[in-house]
Amino acid sequence: MLVTLKEILKEAYKNKYAIAGFNVYGYEDAISVVKASEKLNLPVILMTNVDAINHMPIKILGKMLIEIAEKAKVPVVVHLDHGKTIEVVKKALEAGFSSVMYDGSALPLEENIRNTKAVVDLASKYGASVEGEIGSVGYSDPALNSNASYTDPSEAQLFFEKTGVDALAVAIGTLHRMTEQEAVIQYELLEQIEAMTHVPLVLHGSTGVKDSDLKKLSSKGICKVNIGTAIRMAFGHTMRDEFNKNPLEFDRIKLFKEPMKQVEQVVMHKMRILGGENA
Ligand code: G3H
Ligand code: ZN
Repeated sequence: MLVTLKEILKEAYKNKYAIAGFNVYGYEDAISVVKASEKLNLPVILMTNVDAINHMPIKILGKMLIEIAEKAKVPVVVHLDHGKTIEVVKKALEAGFSSVMYDGSALPLEENIRNTKAVVDLASKYGASVEGEIGSVGYSDPALNSNASYTDPSEAQLFFEKTGVDALAVAIGTLHRMTEQEAVIQYELLEQIEAMTHVPLVLHGSTGVKDSDLKKLSSKGICKVNIGTAIRMAFGHTMRDEFNKNPLEFDRIKLFKEPMKQVEQVVMHKMRILGGENA
């Protein structure tokens, strides 16, 4: 069933576990993520980023993801990931997304607060949840030229109080698109942020986080864990192997089978680490 982020994070926050969010780009990865969640009987978040909606119009992708969510046997959130403008957030809300992230992390604090609050007001008209970001989770690829900066706990407190977001993304040592699990988590900083905010926290760039850290973080106030690169690697590398093993095969449906299975495996592995009552 389709649910909002706020609904599923409430339990996660209270009972100290994390729910996984996966970046999906089309049918093959989205359905594999939901199948894995159904096998474990756990809620999940299907996330669409700007790359995905540049590839497939948000109205089409949104309709497909919402249909998948509505038919699922577990709670599924359809979430816009890293929306950088109010326009794209509006498009997602109009397309029926049950949750949106407004990412004003590159903006000066006051502007980030102002825009995020405007998104919170807008989303409430659609009954959708809102995630904001304070501090800035950068990118492991230097070509992406990001200005990563750790979250300042007092800024996080101000941001939360002024915007009323349902979830807050924080920068505590992760970077987006790491291909190895090498992130160094700043636990002390996380504790300070937790002490000054009363909101479910979100970890971005979680592909780069060691399994042992994921387990620890999910019991500490991180309630949403965003994973993208890990399942893109599972799909892409398996696809390459399939081409190599079957050089004459051209039927995409046959070629997709093994990559979809591998995505399902990675999703189940990550979900089991993050926990929850049924994992
Ligand atoms: O918002 C998306 C996530 O932060 C994904 O990060 O691709 O490094 O796992 P990742
Ligand atoms: Zn992210």
